[in-house]
Amino acid sequence: MSADARARLVAELREQVPGMSPALEKAFAAVPREVFLAGGFHRREGRGRVAPGDKDFLGLVYTDDALVTKKRGGVPVSSSSQPSLMATMIAALDVEPGMRVLEIGAGTGYNAALLAAMGAEVVSIDVQADVAHRAAVALEQAGVRGVTVRAGDGYEGVRGEHVDRVIVTVGVAGVSPHWLAQSRGGPIVAPVRHAGTNPVMVVRTEAGEHVAEPVCSAGFMTASGPLTAHHPWAHPDPAARGELPPLDPAGPPRWDPPLGLVAYRDLWFAAGVWHRRATFAAVPGVPFGRLALLDEHRSGGAVIEPDGRVLAGGEDAARYAGDAVALLNRWEAAGRPELTAWQGTLSLGGEPAAPIFVPVDWSAGHQTPLRRSRQPRPSGS
Ligand SMILES: C[S@@+](CC[C@H](N)C(=O)[O-])C[C@H]1O[C@@H](n2cnc3c(N)ncnc32)[C@H](O)[C@@H]1O
Repeated sequence: MSADARARLVAELREQVPGMSPALEKAFAAVPREVFLAGGFHRREGRGRVAPGDKDFLGLVYTDDALVTKKRGGVPVSSSSQPSLMATMIAALDVEPGMRVLEIGAGTGYNAALLAAMGAEVVSIDVQADVAHRAAVALEQAGVRGVTVRAGDGYEGVRGEHVDRVIVTVGVAGVSPHWLAQSRGGPIVAPVRHAGTNPVMVVRTEAGEHVAEPVCSAGFMTASGPLTAHHPWAHPDPAARGELPPLDPAGPPRWDPPLGLVAYRDLWFAAGVWHRRATFAAVPGVPFGRLALLDEHRSGGAVIEPDGRVLAGGEDAARYAGDAVALLNRWEAAGRPELTAWQGTLSLGGEPAAPIFVPVDWSAGHQTPLRRSRQPRPSGS
């Protein structure tokens, strides 16, 4: 039953994820996700948890969805990420048997188990000791060899040790210089905050310069500690539901049909490059939110709809509406650059005692090997 469900998931992932290697497919086919969710998970809609005895448990475990395993004060603080997103990130990691991989955010241990099934030796760190303990138990129960789970803040990485790859499975504002040093220049695959979301980026050192290339859009829960410290290039934090005032029409629709989710995320990424106030706004009934330009007081601004309409409100409505229309024009004039066309160079920011490298200087026109025809839905972790 579980093997059949895994086979169906693999078939779905093969459809959705560019760059799915036979080794990655074998890993998804072999590792039982349910063992890593033995403590149950929160239902997406409504209250309550799903537990192994429930009749919909296995069906949900093998759905391409992020499953929240722990909340604090109603906020998700640990989960098993969406499988298609995990597959995209592992594909971008380009892992080979025998490589040492550092994972930041052990969570359930499932991602580490997939990497181990591909022949990697994994050190996985989680800042929550109880979460790290449960991951270690699950890995043991699944009979996984080659994964060491450590409790602590992942910022430091593996002091005094060397790794070949780093994969970060929690949203960060930038990458730790320790990871760059320990991997001798990457690659590091990490969801780095940009315009209120966490697109997955590959970070590496090339000709002495640290560069970042986005792979796909994603939403991730936020890391604790210095990895999410404020820095001078940060966009505003996402606007929560109800934070924006009622908005009035301020620009006509321009696309019929509206942009699909992937193109809308392309526009969103570019808006984040070109406008310091670009961020995510939660909107009732819209699962993946809207691109917004939030004013300095967080009391208004403009929202760009997927059909190109602009809505605006608050004291500076006219200015932000104008900025939004200018962004749309610029994106069109630039030939609608895709998210994967951008490359950023990294600058040091964050806490002086624990700095992070943040992608800042973006230019378009690049081609990554993972050009996507499809991307995982940006639901993430
Ligand atoms: C989305 S979950 C990771 C999913 C996991 N890789 C899996 O396969 O289930 C994110 C995890 O990152 C952890 N985390 C948050 N901040 C961290 C930090 N600074 N260092 C290490 N782990 C952190 C959280 O405790 C949480 O368990």
